[in-house]
Amino acid sequence: MVSVEFLQELPKCEHHLHLEGTLEPDLLFPLAKRNDIILPEGFPKSVEELNEKYKKFRDLQDFLDYYYIGTNVLISEQDFFDLAWAYFKKVHKQGLVHAEVFYDPQSHTSRGISIETVTKGFQRACDKAFSEFGITSKLIMCLLRHIEPEECLKTIEEATPFIKDGTISALGLDSAEKPFPPHLFVECYGKAASLNKDLKLTAHAGEEGPAQFVSDALDLLQVTRIDHGINSQYDEELLDRLSRDQTMLTICPLSNVKLQVVQSVSELPLQKFLDRDVPFSLNSDDPAYFGGYILDVYTQVSKDFPHWDHETWGRIAKNAIKGSWCDDKRKNGLL
Ligand code: HPA
Ligand code: ZN
Repeated sequence: MVSVEFLQELPKCEHHLHLEGTLEPDLLFPLAKRNDIILPEGFPKSVEELNEKYKKFRDLQDFLDYYYIGTNVLISEQDFFDLAWAYFKKVHKQGLVHAEVFYDPQSHTSRGISIETVTKGFQRACDKAFSEFGITSKLIMCLLRHIEPEECLKTIEEATPFIKDGTISALGLDSAEKPFPPHLFVECYGKAASLNKDLKLTAHAGEEGPAQFVSDALDLLQVTRIDHGINSQYDEELLDRLSRDQTMLTICPLSNVKLQVVQSVSELPLQKFLDRDVPFSLNSDDPAYFGGYILDVYTQVSKDFPHWDHETWGRIAKNAIKGSWCDDKRKNGLL
């Protein structure tokens, strides 16, 4: 098994990280206090109680119920900055060099907070991560799939200035997967893509949903990356396609265990993906909820795949760089 020191030194990229999912209990309670937010009846009352709840979730929806309560404590531009900056400070120490991070504007606009407030706070933290740590980053705006597509179109309209000027680099799709398949969002993706030819497209698919949702995201939404995508393992033709097109899957091992998609990291089809030359990156998803940041993820995977040598890990790190959306100059600098 490779050492933690080796994994620490590997230049790591993160492509599947929800900024709202970095809200640690020890920031959640102070922010609730700072903003006079009353947490709902029955919500854990202390950091310890909340950490206890986060030990296990029944499924994606059980997690999302807590996650959306958490987002309610974020109000001002400073709150969004503080949240993202706390994340960058942690992962800088873990050898993260490039981050493509999600955020959910609709969790905030639904509470009367403007896209501008959220985006500017997060962008300011990204700028500081570059100036202080040299970490490059991209913002990916996600649509919440439980929200009506017509409402999502309005969100895209509100985000138009940030899509046009490139502050938002990519569009993603998250929240409850199974009841809300990709085809519902065809118009949204078409509209967003028409605003800026450089906008990248991705979507959560094949986390709890079937391999068909992965194919549909590729065919109908024209995405060039798949978030999670582990259920692609059950469709041989799809695996050939992902390999042929070098479409990257952004895999989140600790998340998959915590949300009971698999019982252990060793069950993940990572060796199959390597053998079939399906590119993937390893990511933390919602680290405050799932018990680990990027180096913790790499370390856990190394324990569950102890036969992977330095060369295999080098290949994984290189695939993550190659699959990133940074420019060629940055990629070549990292490779
Ligand atoms: N899946 C779907 N929606 C999400 C996730 C996830 O892993 N994390 C935050 N929102
Ligand atoms: Zn996710």
